[in-house]
Amino acid sequence: MSKPDVLQIGAYSPWDEEALAKHFTTHRLFEVADADKAAYIAERADRLEAIATRGELIVDRSFMEALPNLKIVAVYGVGYDGVDVAAAEALGVRVTNTPDVLTAEVADFGVAMLLAGARGIVGGDQWVRSGNWASQGAFALQRPVHGKKLGIIGLGRIGKAIAKRCAAFDMEIAYTNRSQAADVDWRYEPDPVKLAAWADYVVVMLPGGPATRHVVSAEVIDAIGPEGMLVNVSRGSTVDEEALIDALKTGRLGFAALDVFENEPNIDQRFFDLPNVLLQPHQGSATLETRKAMGQLMINNLRAHFAGEALLTPVV
Ligand code: 8YV
Repeated sequence: MSKPDVLQIGAYSPWDEEALAKHFTTHRLFEVADADKAAYIAERADRLEAIATRGELIVDRSFMEALPNLKIVAVYGVGYDGVDVAAAEALGVRVTNTPDVLTAEVADFGVAMLLAGARGIVGGDQWVRSGNWASQGAFALQRPVHGKKLGIIGLGRIGKAIAKRCAAFDMEIAYTNRSQAADVDWRYEPDPVKLAAWADYVVVMLPGGPATRHVVSAEVIDAIGPEGMLVNVSRGSTVDEEALIDALKTGRLGFAALDVFENEPNIDQRFFDLPNVLLQPHQGSATLETRKAMGQLMINNLRAHFAGEALLTPVV
């Protein structure tokens, strides 16, 4: 029996490539030159029922419309803001993502960023390597994490996991969310500006997309203040980056620890000159164990689709 066809729009790790090739005939769009992509898709459009994509890649309406037999878009990632889900629904296309398997990983990383930012871990490493420790003495005094107030913007699965970890660090927790969460005791503060004004440190953990664009506005950033820190391990689009850079430059915001940016991987170069940022290459979920689990779940969703079984983690 011939294997079902899958349009692969981005590369995966070798073990996922192997598993995909074992179960499907893959059409590797990402290896085709931009100028030839439309012809490549048109040539095989009739056969293509499935797309395998990654969280940060774009699958818009026109892309889906070019595949008349498309039935499923499987995302490798919990965030599916790269997929036009409303268009998918209208076109009768299912969308799956990879929730849960990465929750603890991203939460650990968010806390690592918070700790690293507050305690100057990266600056401390540079202080030792540069010889400054021996020539100039002790590194500048840093800020604690324990006992500080943490505001979480977006209390979904990962936001909750971060809050739980930070509570164990004896932090006081409050959060904004679309609505108050029934299953937690942390203080609910619906207004992000008020939350930021109360908090010492703010972690943003919102999904991407137009509804959350620039929720972390100039006003929110200013409310965090010169002694405060913003940590973002969610999506770059949630923060007004222009306002962020300005606040960091002028010292109106103390520090930012950023794993995500508005234009990845070609991020705003002005970040490179700022001493008060910690920059990471969007690696919140990037451990071997978790990336394997994400790949497996994406492939299992595709296999379930072709077997006529219920999808494991459908978005729509
Ligand atoms: C990945 C992510 O960077 O899950 C998400 O939404 O942002 C990440 O886990 C991405 O999807 C991997 O390509």
